[in-house]
Amino acid sequence: MIDEKILGFFKKRKDSHVSGEELSRAIGISRTAIWKHIERLREEGYDIAASPHLGYKLVSAPDRLTEIELGWQLKTEIIGKKIISYKEINSTNDAAYSLAASGEAEGTVIIAEYQTKGRGRLGRKWISPKDKGAYFSVILRPDIPPTELSVITLFSSLAIAKTVREAVGLPAFIKWPNDILIKGQKVCGVLTELNGEMDKVNFVVAGIGININTSKELLPEGATSLSEEKGARISRLEFVRELFRNLDEYYRIFKNGKIEAILKEYKKLSSVLDRRVQIDYHNSLVSGVAIDVDKDGALILRLDSGFHERVLAGDVKILR
Ligand code: BTN
Repeated sequence: MIDEKILGFFKKRKDSHVSGEELSRAIGISRTAIWKHIERLREEGYDIAASPHLGYKLVSAPDRLTEIELGWQLKTEIIGKKIISYKEINSTNDAAYSLAASGEAEGTVIIAEYQTKGRGRLGRKWISPKDKGAYFSVILRPDIPPTELSVITLFSSLAIAKTVREAVGLPAFIKWPNDILIKGQKVCGVLTELNGEMDKVNFVVAGIGININTSKELLPEGATSLSEEKGARISRLEFVRELFRNLDEYYRIFKNGKIEAILKEYKKLSSVLDRRVQIDYHNSLVSGVAIDVDKDGALILRLDSGFHERVLAGDVKILR
C-alpha cells in the first residue's frame, strides 16, 4: 500500500522530483521509512534517482505485471477493477476458481509471472516461463445459460487477436475455437472453465496464456512468441493493459447481447473458415470444410456427404 502511494506520487509528478519530506508528510511515515521503501522498489527493478536537494524521481518502471503497474489509470469498467498479482503460483485458473467460489467479484484478474502447474485445454500442460509471458485468469459472472459459454472463449480470442494486431502490428488469426496463431504458429491459448448447474452459470474463469518475450527454445514444437515474430522485445505491461481494455469492451458487447457483432469480427480473423479441416474430439475424427461459426460458438462443417455437422469442441487440424 505504501509502495503504491509512493509510486502514485512519482507518476503524478512525471518528470519532476518529489522530496523525501513531502512524501513523509503526505504518507504519514518517517523519512527513513520512505527511504527504506525506495530501496525496496529499486530492488523490484524501479530506477529511482535521488538528489540531495530535490528529492526522488522515477526514471523508469520495470516491465513487471504487478497490480500497481497494470492497474495504473487502466480505466476499464469490469476487467481488472481488481488485480491480484503473484510472482509464482501453481495455476492462475485454479486460484481464480477458488476465489470465485468464495465470492470474489466479477472482473477480478489473477496474474502471475510464473506458473508451476499451468494448465491447457484437454488436460494438457501450459508452459509458463518466468517473466517472459502473460499468464492470467479473469473471473466473470455472466447471466447466461451454460450453452453460451463458448462465446466467452470466442470474444476472448478476438480481443487477443485484435490486441496483437493493433498493439504489436502482427497478423494474428484465430484457429477455432481459441488458439491465436501467427503464420500458423501458436502464440496464445484460452482455457475457459465454468461453475454452474444445468441451466445457470455461477461463474466463469477465463484463463489466458500468451507467449510474449519467450524464446522458441523454451516453447513446445509449433509454438512461437510475439517477440520472436516481431524481432524485438515487447513491453508486456503495455500489451496486457491494452488487452484488458479490449477484453472489457468485448465483454460489455457480449453482456448487451450483441453476439452477432462479435461473431462477425471473429469470422473475419478465422484461420479455419473455408478450409478443409480435421477435428479430433475425444479420439473420434471428423473432417470436412469449415463453413461457419454459429451463435453458440459451434463450428459448422460441410462433410463430404454434403451433410452439415455442428462441432462444439475439439482440436482442429487445417488440412488445406
Ligand atoms: C490452451 O491453449 O490449451 C489454453 C491455455 C491456457 C493457459 C492459461 S495461462 C493462465 C491460465 N492458468 C492456467 O493454468 N491456464 C491458463
